[in-house]
Amino acid sequence: MRVSFYGEGQVATGAAAILRRRRGIEVLGPFGRKERGEALARRADVVVIATTSFLSAVAEDIREAIEAGSNVITTAEEAAYPWANDADVADRLDARARERGVSILGAGLNPGFAFDALVLTACGVVPEVKSLLVERVVDLSGFGEAVLRRIGVAHLADSFTRGRRDGTVTGHIGFPQSMRVVAGALGVEIERIDSSVEPIFAKHLLAARFLTVHMGETAGFRQRYVAIKDGLPWFEALFTGHVSLPLLGEEPRDSITIRAQETLRFSVTPGINPQLGSASIVANSIRRVVAAPPGWVTVADLPPAFP
Ligand SMILES: NC(=O)c1ccc[n+]([C@@H]2O[C@H](COP(=O)([O-])OP(=O)(O)OC[C@H]3O[C@@H](n4cnc5c(N)ncnc54)[C@H](OP(=O)(O)O)[C@@H]3O)[C@@H](O)[C@H]2O)c1
Repeated sequence: MRVSFYGEGQVATGAAAILRRRRGIEVLGPFGRKERGEALARRADVVVIATTSFLSAVAEDIREAIEAGSNVITTAEEAAYPWANDADVADRLDARARERGVSILGAGLNPGFAFDALVLTACGVVPEVKSLLVERVVDLSGFGEAVLRRIGVAHLADSFTRGRRDGTVTGHIGFPQSMRVVAGALGVEIERIDSSVEPIFAKHLLAARFLTVHMGETAGFRQRYVAIKDGLPWFEALFTGHVSLPLLGEEPRDSITIRAQETLRFSVTPGINPQLGSASIVANSIRRVVAAPPGWVTVADLPPAFP
């Protein structure tokens, strides 16, 4: 099986390294911007697009890869449920993928696992779901600089506020997508999704792996998304990210609380490593995307990913 990588950042290099250790897989790339054609048009069995978070920025790359006859995995968070962002683009690419007999999957750890696939798996042991609370506390210190700045780290208060207003500071992307994947699978109609992102400022200089945060700049944030059903919170997603979690008295953790007949809490400690977890889930999704039915699929349509 031939797997081509577009984007030569953390996820692509990590997933490519995992796949190179596997028999029967030939890894092409990772390719950078200048080698776009080589990455997308080599008729690989799977093209992994690990470049940006935004559907609009990967749509043309996806189209070219499927026209070449490749299945596509993209880590763009918005691609985990593209109908939440642009139903026309999603429908068009879905239809074209069906015609070409290939599939497209938005894959990753979050979205793609922690707030959706794992939640659905956990829901398997309850008779019905009343409401959900999913929480991640994430060590951001290993994230690349571009991603950190975009999600909201290393900003002074006014640049954080301005960035939130003009959309350049996004917080972590993907909660509405995860919520819609889970709601769709459980047959729930979401009325609306409310959200907030609160900055956390550094009280002194902090050195992350690829970025230094100065005193007074954002070192992390607290993010909350709530999906409302019948006027009440149905799915609450909490995300705390910081480049130095011990300063918050926290350590990485993941938890899923399912309120059903009885309340069940699943917890993962220490929380899933963002870099290794993301690279692994992409590498472990190769086979399931090849075996998937043609069209744009979500993690709710597929079996679990495993090595
Ligand atoms: N769903 C998930 O759970 C999940 C998990 C991990 C990552 N992600 C997302 O996946 C993306 C990649 O993550 P990463 O950690 O690998 O990021 P990264 O380390 O910053 O690497 C991104 C790579 O893509 C290139 N790139 C950026 N924008 C591009 C564009 N518009 N067109 C072509 N190439 C572009 C960059 O090139 P330059 O260096 O030239 O800019 C770099 O090679 C990010 O948006 C991240 O948020 C999602």
